[in-house]
Amino acid sequence: MTDPSDQTPSTEGAHRPLRSYGRIKSRTIKPAQGALLDTLLPRIAIPDPELGPINPQALMPHAAEVWLEIGFGGGEHLAGQAAKRPDVLFLGAEPFLNGAASALRHLSERNLANVRLLVGDARLLINALPKASLSQVFILFPDPWPKARHHKRRLVQDDVVQELARAMRPGGRLRFATDWADYADWALERFLRSEAFDWTAHCADDWRRAPDDHVTTRYQEKKLGDIAPVYLDLVRR
Ligand SMILES: C[S@@+](CC[C@H](N)C(=O)[O-])C[C@H]1O[C@@H](n2cnc3c(N)ncnc32)[C@H](O)[C@@H]1O
Repeated sequence: MTDPSDQTPSTEGAHRPLRSYGRIKSRTIKPAQGALLDTLLPRIAIPDPELGPINPQALMPHAAEVWLEIGFGGGEHLAGQAAKRPDVLFLGAEPFLNGAASALRHLSERNLANVRLLVGDARLLINALPKASLSQVFILFPDPWPKARHHKRRLVQDDVVQELARAMRPGGRLRFATDWADYADWALERFLRSEAFDWTAHCADDWRRAPDDHVTTRYQEKKLGDIAPVYLDLVRR
């Protein structure tokens, strides 16, 4: 029997990738965050990647580098990293509206001027970015889709790895973190078989210990996975 959750939702057109995320809106958004969606988001929104190529230089002309966080959730990590590197342009993509609203609160409270947001699918953004434009990518605690029949919904797929490799500069870094054992294996296998990435780890502590610059989020603290977090730091060849 077909599982209804396996059927492609009607929002997925022929050119859209299979949905890799859950809800796009849940509880009511608090008035203050709703106001930020109306006022701050239009000022820092990344143009719709389905309408054409995105030029990061046009978003922050003197940025030293461009970093991307895929699925920034509530935005704590994105804001924390952006505060440490005001010279870097941070792109964040997240389809969950409540997450984007929460991120806007963090950006506003910390007065951060170097972040641009897409409330939508990061894969469309990656495809619209110029070759070799990204110096750092974060994929942190992505939706695990633990059931085998849902693995095709996982964000890390061979075609996404190829597009990331295209959009990243040689020597650029990618951090993948998860607390699901099977997703750690799955992701490492796909990054390494692409032959576009090297894994920097030399000993177990290199993937077991949180990197010095890591910012823990409320989602991570829920510890929903089946192992302690694993941090895979990869380098674009
Ligand atoms: C489990 S949450 C983790 C959030 C955050 N990274 C953290 O560690 O707190 C995964 C997030 O990835 C988002 N996501 C899933 N697929 C995505 C995609 N294709 N593009 C952007 N975000 C995506 C989901 O909406 C969800 O908010």
